[in-house]
Amino acid sequence: MDSPQKNDPQPEKAESWKMFDEISPRYDLVNRILSWGQDVSWRKKMADYLPNETGLVVLDLATGTADVLLALLKVRPEIEQGLGLDLSDKMLTVGRRKVDARGLAGRIILRNGDAQDIPNPDNTFSAVTIAFGIRNLPDPGKTLSEMYRVLKKGGRAIILEFSLPANPVIRFFHLRYLRYGVPIVGGMLSGNFQAYSYLNRTIEQFPYGKQFLGLMGQAGFEELRSQPLLLGAATIYYGKK
Ligand SMILES: C[S@@+](CC[C@H](N)C(=O)[O-])C[C@H]1O[C@@H](n2cnc3c(N)ncnc32)[C@H](O)[C@@H]1O
Repeated sequence: MDSPQKNDPQPEKAESWKMFDEISPRYDLVNRILSWGQDVSWRKKMADYLPNETGLVVLDLATGTADVLLALLKVRPEIEQGLGLDLSDKMLTVGRRKVDARGLAGRIILRNGDAQDIPNPDNTFSAVTIAFGIRNLPDPGKTLSEMYRVLKKGGRAIILEFSLPANPVIRFFHLRYLRYGVPIVGGMLSGNFQAYSYLNRTIEQFPYGKQFLGLMGQAGFEELRSQPLLLGAATIYYGKK
């Protein structure tokens, strides 16, 4: 199976944040191990797509434990303000501890909020980011429209998401890793086998590459680009308002 098309709203995803509440204590550790440490550099790479100006105000959706905002501020310390939204209070609690430990509480604010119904006015942010989040939402098209709405004119959407390698041989082995390695290793480390078999199912079903850029185009984004990472195991998508 390569990438079945399923862009209709998916009810089971509406409550995915509850699963993240359960795995929040081990979420960062399991990420590092399952991605062979690559997830850290992938999030830093998102900074390449930020606007080249000072006074940036960045919204990070499905922010989880705040790793995207922390990575962006490391690469671009001149970011003025970062706001992270997530529905899982327990993921946000882990995130706030990390933000406080780095002395960034004044610059990064984490709030409970829905990526599909962003509680901010139109034309507010220089950039809106989301990493490994849009795949977990019932209606990715609605989220993309919301991202477009809250971006200033010229603002940028930067999305990091798992994808599947284009090379059929590499894809074959990668799918085996996702189907058998990830649920076992993730399940043992987190104590939640269901969460990590959910991970492989959602990756296999989610649109990637040109198909995902098509969804961004439908939401109104222009100058669309994508950058595959680690032979296509993940991809950064970029679009401008
Ligand atoms: C795989 S984690 C990604 C966390 C973080 N972005 C990262 O890079 O590690 C997905 C996150 O999406 C959150 N989430 C799920 N549904 C959501 C929604 N409707 N609005 C906001 N966050 C949501 C979950 O609680 C979880 O923290």
